[in-house]
Amino acid sequence: MKQEYIFIGPPGSGKGTQTKKLSEEYKLPHIDTGALLREEIASGSDEGKLADSFISKGNLVPLNLVANIIKNRLKKDDCQNGFILDGYPRSTEQALALDDILAEIDKDSDTKPIVFYFKIDEELLIERLVNRISCKDCGEIYNLKTMNIQGNKCPKCGGELIRRNDDTEEVAKKRFDTYFRETAPLIDLYQKRGWLTTLDASLEIETIYKNLKGAIKGNVHS
Ligand code: AP5
Repeated sequence: MKQEYIFIGPPGSGKGTQTKKLSEEYKLPHIDTGALLREEIASGSDEGKLADSFISKGNLVPLNLVANIIKNRLKKDDCQNGFILDGYPRSTEQALALDDILAEIDKDSDTKPIVFYFKIDEELLIERLVNRISCKDCGEIYNLKTMNIQGNKCPKCGGELIRRNDDTEEVAKKRFDTYFRETAPLIDLYQKRGWLTTLDASLEIETIYKNLKGAIKGNVHS
């Protein structure tokens, strides 16, 4: 059976950290809209320039730009057994667009995605974001405050460790505003559909991962 997971939560709640672990263990593609958009920016394309003008202000990039990126990605062969969507959808409009994309791609399947909501108090998040550092090559995510990271080389692959441009306190606050205004209503939407599972994202990384896998095994929506 196809495994379709959607991760929703505020900036810094640990979606990327958990997706990376699950994607490696379950051999499912990690579809991270933020990373795909940052690749587009790095390529210097017109879409990238447009995306940058929104990301640098902590706003969502336009609906159609992200929908096209997601649709093209979900059509690839490696998504046939499933995928993890990290950071999409982020608004009611995007959730409805995703319904259409999945109806087109999954027309012979009756799989319903499991939506994991990473629930956490906002005050814990700024500190996580301003201390985040990640590997330019393998994408591994670290935290300078809670992990013992020496120098600027990735402990996993030796790649360069970088900070994201939008991980300043000022932009992070704007990202939170955008999250509460645009994305938080999805919790209610998916709850009503019976697709939502809530995770306590304030716990230790390994505990959250254990809870995540437990919920997948039980296929519990709570
Ligand atoms: P994106 O890159 O997706 O950023 P985000 O959603 O704001 O989420 P983050 O990546 O900041 O946080 P995370 O929850 O993945 O946390 P992480 O695991 O890294 O999007 C960036 C921008 O792109 C958006 O603002 C928007 O402009 C645009 N965009 C993206 N998707 C879009 C869409 N669908 N539509 C329109 N625009 C879109 O962890 C954070 C830190 O905390 C790390 O240092 C980590 O080590 C640490 N940490 C993680 N878990 C724990 C834990 N349990 N305990 C302690 N520390 C932890």
